[in-house]
This record gives sequence, structure tokens and C-alpha cells, in this order.
Amino acid sequence: MYILLMGPPGAGKGTQAEKLIDEFKIPHISTGDMFRAAVSAGTELGKEAKKYMDAGGLVPDVVTIGIVREGLSKPECANGFILDGFPRTEEQAVALDGILKDLGIKLTGVVNISVPDSELVARVVGRRICKACGATYHVSFNPSKVENVCDKCGGNLYQRNDDKEETVVNRLHAYHEQTEPLIEYYKKQGLYKEIDGLQPIDKVYADVKVSLGCSK
Ligand code: AP5
Ligand code: ZN
Repeated sequence: MYILLMGPPGAGKGTQAEKLIDEFKIPHISTGDMFRAAVSAGTELGKEAKKYMDAGGLVPDVVTIGIVREGLSKPECANGFILDGFPRTEEQAVALDGILKDLGIKLTGVVNISVPDSELVARVVGRRICKACGATYHVSFNPSKVENVCDKCGGNLYQRNDDKEETVVNRLHAYHEQTEPLIEYYKKQGLYKEIDGLQPIDKVYADVKVSLGCSK
């Protein structure tokens, strides 16, 4: 399966990707995770990306397209992947078409998790992530059993730098301006599937699988 997960900040892309990885054992290519790893490692890429991420804006296309091309060209992606958080601009979408054509890959589906802005701020501000394994929680909607401790691995939970309310507003603005128009782009390609992301996490997951034709 070659899956593209779309949706605004906090829609649940990472949460659903975790479930797909557990069940289908396919690699997860998340541009947000790649940039955060580069920031933690203090690389040149991380220093460049941090400027945009902390302000809630998008990292320039040329940088982002380069890391996705490199990621998708790895042998482990040949039999399937979940692409999460890319493309986010029309330039990235056009570049992705070219990368997939070069690799001889056709997308199985483009799944957009739809959630209204009013809900997204609460989701993002309450998100907590495991430092050790990357699992995602929410202080109210999906809490860990023990406060600030990961259920899966016992690691400590932390809050992302860009999950402050004022930054989230900018991220939502960037989404509506630059990424939302891609819905039409993928509708035209006949790949677009929309899921109601306001439902409980497991129900969203069931709908994601139905939309991809892989429900059991
Ligand atoms: P990125 O990491 O991609 O962030 P994002 O798109 O803003 O998405 P999030 O990770 O915030 O949300 P999500 O949809 O994964 O939600 P989650 O599952 O965690 O990007 C970060 C930054 O990197 C960007 O701002 C940009 O600067 C840069 N960047 C990345 N890609 C780029 C690109 N292609 N081009 C340029 N720049 C790029 O869920 C959120 C919370 O809600 C969690 O707490 C979760 O537990 C909870 N939750 C999930 N589902 C439900 C549900 N159904 N009901 C209740 N709660 C739920
Ligand atoms: Zn963990």
C-alpha cells in the first residue's frame, strides 16, 4: 500500500499512521518527524527548518522535496509507505508526482482526515509525545495510563515546541492557504478519500481502512 495521509495540524495523521504501521508493517515517512529529528541532532537542515517550524510556517519547498525524494528512494519503501505531512503545497504535489513516476509507484489512496479548526487547537495544545518511541497521547482525549509516562515503552512524555496556542493559529493559517487547495488536486486524480476525523480514534481507523480497501 502506498498511502498519503493529509489533514490539518492535529487532525490525527500521526495517530492513524501509528496504527497502520502496527498492522501493516510499512515505513512511515513524516516530514515533520524528519525535521524534528534534524533539529534534535543540531544539523544544518535542523537549524534551517527550526526557523520556520517555531513560527508555524512551512519549510521551503526545495528543502522538503529533497528529503522526501531521498526517503522514498530507500529500498524499504519499494513495497509500501505512509507519507504523512507531505505534500503541503502545489509545488510539492507536482514534485511528488514526478518522484513516484521515476520510482514506478502509483498511490493506493490519498486519505484526508477532516476536522474543524475549533477542535484542532485543543487537540494540538493537549498533545504529548513519547521521547523514546514517538507514541502520541492527549492529556484528555487519549491519556496515558500513568501521567507523563508512555504506555508502550515507559518513556517520558513531552510537549512539542510548536504546540503552543499562538503557533497553532499560524499553522492553521498555513494549512488553509497552502495545503487545503491540494484536496482539489487529488480529487482530479481520482485518489481522494475524506474521513470524518471527529469520531473516536478507533472509528477513524476503521474508516481509513475501508477507504483504502483493506478492512478485515
Ligand atoms: P507536522 O509534524 O507534519 O505537523 P502537522 O501537520 O501540523 O500535524 P501534527 O503532527 O500537528 O498533527 P497530526 O495530524 O499528526 O495529529 P496527531 O495524530 O498528533 O509538521 C510540523 C512542522 O514541520 C510544520 O508546521 C512545518 O513547519 C514543517 N513541515 C512538515 N512537513 C512539511 C512540508 N511538507 N512542507 C513544509 N514544511 C513542513 O493528533 C493530535 C492530537 O489529537 C494528539 O494528542 C492525539 O492524541 C489527539 N487525537 C488524534 N486523533 C483523535 C481523535 N480521533 N479524537 C480525539 N483526539 C484525537
Ligand atoms: Zn514510548
